[in-house]
Amino acid sequence: MQQFNTPFQSLTLQRLPLRNRETLRAWDAADEYLLEHLGETGVSGRVMILNDSFGALTLNLATYSPVLYSDSWLAHQSAIHNAQHNGIATDSFQCLASTEPLQGTFDHVLIRFPKNLSWFEEQLLRLRPHIHENTQIVAAGMAKYIHTSTLSLLEKTLGPTRTSLARKKARLAFVTFDSSFAPAKSSFPKTLSMPGNLITINHANVFSREKLDIGTRFFLEHLLDDRHYDNIVDLGCGNGILGLTAASRHPDSTVTFVDESYMAVQSARESWQANHLSEDKGRFITNDCLTDFPANSADLVLCNPPFHQGETIGDHIARRMFKQAHHVLRPGGELRIVGNRHLNYHTRLKQLFGGYRLVASDAKFVILSSTRHS
Ligand SMILES: C[S@@+](CC[C@H](N)C(=O)[O-])C[C@H]1O[C@@H](n2cnc3c(N)ncnc32)[C@H](O)[C@@H]1O
Repeated sequence: MQQFNTPFQSLTLQRLPLRNRETLRAWDAADEYLLEHLGETGVSGRVMILNDSFGALTLNLATYSPVLYSDSWLAHQSAIHNAQHNGIATDSFQCLASTEPLQGTFDHVLIRFPKNLSWFEEQLLRLRPHIHENTQIVAAGMAKYIHTSTLSLLEKTLGPTRTSLARKKARLAFVTFDSSFAPAKSSFPKTLSMPGNLITINHANVFSREKLDIGTRFFLEHLLDDRHYDNIVDLGCGNGILGLTAASRHPDSTVTFVDESYMAVQSARESWQANHLSEDKGRFITNDCLTDFPANSADLVLCNPPFHQGETIGDHIARRMFKQAHHVLRPGGELRIVGNRHLNYHTRLKQLFGGYRLVASDAKFVILSSTRHS
């Protein structure tokens, strides 16, 4: 746990999910730069914070009762966890999910650039009716992630934007709101046709929102066997295409869709409805992997794991998913995954389950299956 000292607070912050021997900090130079700038200019009025990953901005500004708007359930949980550990009241800020409407007007808007530009544009379009000519809008990020396209989105949706000099490889962008033009409308949610006569509804921050991912396409060809499953889990569901396909082939099974992205779970829910699948057979849960799911409760867990958390690349979330799947499966239950060939998922499955079966492979991907024995 490391100490984050700013003009506002001195905090010890952690990243969720917690990991043994974590080496990464829960903030970066862009958070430092933004808070130093705010320390000099001051903060006033109603404050909105977009995309704060672990609460570094939100908790520093807790005395201003900010709204933390995010598509990440883990980001909200991190802010709450870190507030509790630093003696900050958890009701001193509001966690607002990307699937909820913005309310009222904001005088100060602080933005961490998200990785996904579709989601960034959508956020800015949603924000526009909730700001006024004097709203102070400052965006922050590491310079390597701020491209011309990122800045032009700010210009196209809100108004003229100028950038600061880089400091410790971070940069700030200052936006002057221009209420005189009407930006183009959002193109989300998008409806996509899928194999098996299915459709998916895709919100702006959902994985493969423009077209079916090639790994997922391969997985769909080898998704499940011709046997009975009571409970199927689509873990890291995105738009829900894995679980939808399973449900269309096994209409008697209950399918649980889980993702830490609010928009993913919402997309899966709307996709389920759009395909007229049985209302009482679909469950939709925003969560960190399968935390708090009961043991011995699933027959099949389907998973196309993520290989990053925000800007951090790695297999730590995938490993967590496999471990928790092992816990949640009944004896005889199966975890089936797709992954890039070069990722050593088979080693991890062997450690956890005592073995694995290669279901299929092509030049890029492998599909692996492991069964829980006891
Ligand atoms: C590679 S995408 C797969 C999406 C979908 N199953 C598909 O195949 O198109 C991985 C998904 O895992 C989700 N995810 C990442 N971290 C997670 C976590 N800690 N708990 C639950 N879901 C997570 C991401 O939001 C993303 O939707």
